[in-house]
Amino acid sequence: MPSLEEARKILADAGQSHVLAFWDRLDAPARESLLAQIGRIDFAAVAKLRGVLADAGAKAAPAAAAPMEPAPVVELAGGELAAARARGEEELRAGRVGALVVAGGQGSRLGFEGPKGCYPVGPITDAPLFFFHARKLLALKRRYGRPVPFYVMTSETNDAATRAFFEEHAYFGLAKEDVFFFVQGMWPALDPEGKVILDRPDHVFLSPDGHGGTLAALERSGALADMEARGLASVFYFQVDNPMVDVADPAFVGYHAAQGADLSVKVCAKRDPQEGLGVAVRRGSRTEIVEYTEFTDEQKNERLPDGELRYKYGSVAIHVFSVPFLRREASAGLPVHVAHKKVPHVDEAGAVVKPSAPNAYKFEKFIFDALADAKVCPCVAFDREAEFSPVKNAEGSDSPATCRADLSRKWARWLRAAGVAVPLDERGYPLHKIEIDPAFAFDAASLAERDLSAVDPAGDILLEEKN
Ligand code: UTP
Repeated sequence: MPSLEEARKILADAGQSHVLAFWDRLDAPARESLLAQIGRIDFAAVAKLRGVLADAGAKAAPAAAAPMEPAPVVELAGGELAAARARGEEELRAGRVGALVVAGGQGSRLGFEGPKGCYPVGPITDAPLFFFHARKLLALKRRYGRPVPFYVMTSETNDAATRAFFEEHAYFGLAKEDVFFFVQGMWPALDPEGKVILDRPDHVFLSPDGHGGTLAALERSGALADMEARGLASVFYFQVDNPMVDVADPAFVGYHAAQGADLSVKVCAKRDPQEGLGVAVRRGSRTEIVEYTEFTDEQKNERLPDGELRYKYGSVAIHVFSVPFLRREASAGLPVHVAHKKVPHVDEAGAVVKPSAPNAYKFEKFIFDALADAKVCPCVAFDREAEFSPVKNAEGSDSPATCRADLSRKWARWLRAAGVAVPLDERGYPLHKIEIDPAFAFDAASLAERDLSAVDPAGDILLEEKN
């Protein structure tokens, strides 16, 4: 921790002396925590962010103006699907596959106190998002005989709560040594003059550096070294808010391995032209994910002669990374994106103000920017009804209600395929609640292997597995 004199110098050199504006009014613990925070903030990085802000102001045409075409998309079927799956199963049996969930976000749209992974989504038991991810990994370990080590990215804000939650739930049946928590970086926001913002008289506002922060955080934390020490060849990457994700899906993992890919991308058909998914495109020899906001309305709605959208496939942030590519990328440095946001701040009297309009710039890195360095990066199509229904918003689309309904509908399909005549409404949703612990069955085939003779389709169905 710097002394007051040292802190004054650091701040003066960085043009951020206002951070000590309330010093005279702070009590001893508040002074100590402010000095400690000043010691932790990387002001050289803040100077770079100021540069990013200046460049963003000067930015010319949007990226959408550059020539691009839809990226080629692989639809695995028949023999190709079987071969990919067999290869993925080989990887899993050899213990060469890990899983990585990014769970450092703030979940501001959902408005849930606490880590988003603790949010209850189980239609019957209220099991949390983390439960569904971890139990899938438990099922894979039981099936293939080797653990799929689980790397959980948190942020300074939710790290302690996330670790405590896993402890409290006995790691959902996983071995503690196979779960590796690591913390992403935090960046200050800047006001239009490039000044950091006090959100309390004794505290600089910080927010997570985006899911792109994963790459540097993996190295800094030792998680990448752990992957290498365990002999992992690839890591399945996903977001915490989608309990439908088919974690370490053998076909996707196997296709990635067979192609010798650096980074593979799962894509699905967009729900409608306006859906806010990034789109997989090809620009020259490179594959990119272009953000929805960079598309013009005309591009979003462009149709092919057969009536399909030209830019039909969106990315839902499900990837496989090869471990050597993660090592190369750890020091590569991703571009920094700027967003104009509402950031709480103190007024001259030290009172906290919650602005009603954007007042500051936040900075983030995006994981898909790593595609720029990937030499082999296939896009593989999947069926969104089977694998994608995120919890983003408190209400409406992509909310807990739609997610629970989609989970039940998927489990109803599995049950019906296994011969249980679950009654459905006219839209295909089950009339009663259903919940299946992934450790009991993680897909239609593993459910069909279970004894379901005692299941009564006339009421709620809960299928659980002991640890
Ligand atoms: P979102 O972009 O949906 O953000 O993150 P969010 O923080 O969860 O929610 P909002 O936008 O505040 O409402 C997608 C995934 O990326 C992770 C999130 O935890 C989520 O799994 N993420 C996002 C991080 O791990 N770190 C970040 O800095 C940002």
